[in-house]
Amino acid sequence: MSIAALASGTGTILEALLADGLPIDIVIVDRPCQAEKVAAAAAVPSVLVRREDFTAGFDRHSYTDQVVAALAPYAPQLVVMAGYGTILAQPIHDAYPGRILNTHPALLPAFKGWHAVEAALAAGVEETGCTVHVATLGVDEGPILAQEVVPVLPGDDPETLAERIKQVERRLYPATIREVLSQLSRGESLI
Ligand code: GRF
Repeated sequence: MSIAALASGTGTILEALLADGLPIDIVIVDRPCQAEKVAAAAAVPSVLVRREDFTAGFDRHSYTDQVVAALAPYAPQLVVMAGYGTILAQPIHDAYPGRILNTHPALLPAFKGWHAVEAALAAGVEETGCTVHVATLGVDEGPILAQEVVPVLPGDDPETLAERIKQVERRLYPATIREVLSQLSRGESLI
């Protein structure tokens, strides 16, 4: 089994996946970021498929074509997003149908989107959490594979709450990916 990881940020989730010994053969990033260094430290190649355009006119489809082309030589069985900052379009779902996973820092379907931690704080909830799910074209909408509750504590700010959630993601995501790999190796599909 071969896994491709997609990351954009500090790469601490990616680091946990690598530390778990998952067979990650390639890391794709959409911008220069710490995740490239995390990959290099584990001797895993990374490819920068640079997103140049952050305006409303961004050509998501052709950017996604570039990501699919970068992945192709590695022929991964599974694609895992680990804090990837670009929503990808249909071509990646055509290339890897039902084989793209994501971890989201909220209890989906609550608080979809990029600002899930801030949204949970703004809503005043006492509990939030994280969700591992199959990524589909609808953002944060695919079938849920695993969830875990994380408390919101008095005095939390976005940083403290995000870090408490990530501590769980660093355990739940690799464990769920392992489960998915066994399912795929038995020839079962995820959706
Ligand atoms: C994680 O909380 C993930 O759920 C979200 O982005 C964060 C990535 O964290 N999509 P890091 O950059 O790996 O530390």
